[in-house]
Amino acid sequence: MNRKKYYIETYGCQMNVYDSELVENQLIKTGYKQTNSIESADLIFLNTCAIREKAEETVHNRLTSLAYLKKRNPNLIIGVLGCMAQNLKDDLLKDKPYVDVILGPDSYRRIPEIITNRNKELNNIVDTKLSKYEIYNDLFPSRKEGVNAWISIMRGCDKFCTFCIVPFTRGRERSRSIESVIEEVKHAVEDGFVEITLLGQNVNSYRTSDGSFSCLLEKVAQVEGVKRIRYTSPHPQDFDENLLEVMSRYDNICNYIHLPLQSGSNSILKKMNRTYSKEEFIDLVAKIRDYIPGCSISTDVIVGFPGETDADFQDTLDMMKKIKFNFAYMFKYSSRPGTKAAEYDNQLPEDIKQNRLEQLIELQSSITLENNIEKINSVQYILIEKESKKSNNYWSGRTDGNTWTIVKKNKENVKEVIPVKIIDAKGVTLFGEALTKKELLYETN
Ligand code: SAH
Ligand code: SF4
Ligand code: F3S
Repeated sequence: MNRKKYYIETYGCQMNVYDSELVENQLIKTGYKQTNSIESADLIFLNTCAIREKAEETVHNRLTSLAYLKKRNPNLIIGVLGCMAQNLKDDLLKDKPYVDVILGPDSYRRIPEIITNRNKELNNIVDTKLSKYEIYNDLFPSRKEGVNAWISIMRGCDKFCTFCIVPFTRGRERSRSIESVIEEVKHAVEDGFVEITLLGQNVNSYRTSDGSFSCLLEKVAQVEGVKRIRYTSPHPQDFDENLLEVMSRYDNICNYIHLPLQSGSNSILKKMNRTYSKEEFIDLVAKIRDYIPGCSISTDVIVGFPGETDADFQDTLDMMKKIKFNFAYMFKYSSRPGTKAAEYDNQLPEDIKQNRLEQLIELQSSITLENNIEKINSVQYILIEKESKKSNNYWSGRTDGNTWTIVKKNKENVKEVIPVKIIDAKGVTLFGEALTKKELLYETN
């Protein structure tokens, strides 16, 4: 029998990438196989993101552009999954009647049943109920070959930062069992993955009756064959010294922390409900650098939050200069209906937000470059991930600190960790030469 084909497109954060892998496994169980050609698919799923208005617009445009496929093949199933499904189901049903299936992030367990029903009766299926318990402990993802395996260890968020839609789209915080995470790590290693990235909207709020996040991290570090471990995103409020202590003890836990700052102004941090002050953030960074000298730190920053004054924005620039993050993801505030900040009456005009974003990007670009230039002549360990896009004579891989590095090919293979002498830095990228054992000895003596 000819198996039906699915095509899935993923928007948003790594948690959505992981969820799409879970969904793929569910579809395979239902008898579907994957296709890369959207034109030939019997089922198209878009796994969506609602974090900023732009993310939603992209998906709306994509859905509009898919209407012709439905006209051509009325049996085609089009589904919207994830955070927009959760948030915008009524709009979708009204504007895009050709969408057949709308599933929120806690409804993926039902996919086999839903698809089978949809193939029998032609009515829309909507399930966007959020669950207090769904953690998919017993569902595993279908991963393609690769270097890094994403593993979700907790779902949801209880922090309610006033700008953020995630607590509404993903529901309450809940953690997977340590046992189920470790089982998945072992599977990933058996399947050839050498790097593990543990995921959660507040990855360090992870807690179970068997232990906290630092306990889980230590157990993952002890799994044989795990060459590198990363995790994202921790919340500054939930950082404890145990975690730093575990990180400093295991070589395979990367010396890298993504630590979202959001703003450098105390009054804005308060309005954002971030629960820390800039002084506490500075202390935390000092503590990190104390436990893990040279630890690479990246961040997220929002400019143009409602009521942000020139002085508040200057505080953010000052913090960036002071902390010197290795790199940063920078965003213009985007008002999300349903969140508290969307109700604030001092929303800023687009040109101010744009201007501040440009200033911030310019500053951070020079800081990133300065940090990278400091690495010239040092030895960095690079995990080779793929051929460089620019030339097949070069590898592309990341340092322990998460900086992409281009290395001239020798006899190495993908998935190997090799010592590299850094010879140049441009923008956000490092360039280096692989060292032989003899050269390494010379360099490190
Ligand atoms: N849980 C993580 C971040 C999740 S969202 C944390 O607490 O840091 C990723 C980033 O998107 C956030 O760190 C924030 O910088 C940005 N973001 C979230 N909501 C936003 C909004 N309404 N407008 C602009 N940026 C936003
Ligand atoms: Fe959003 Fe804040 Fe939760 Fe991060 S911690 S997901 S920014 S509400
Ligand atoms: Fe987007 Fe949902 Fe992730 S809103 S950033 S896909 S949790």
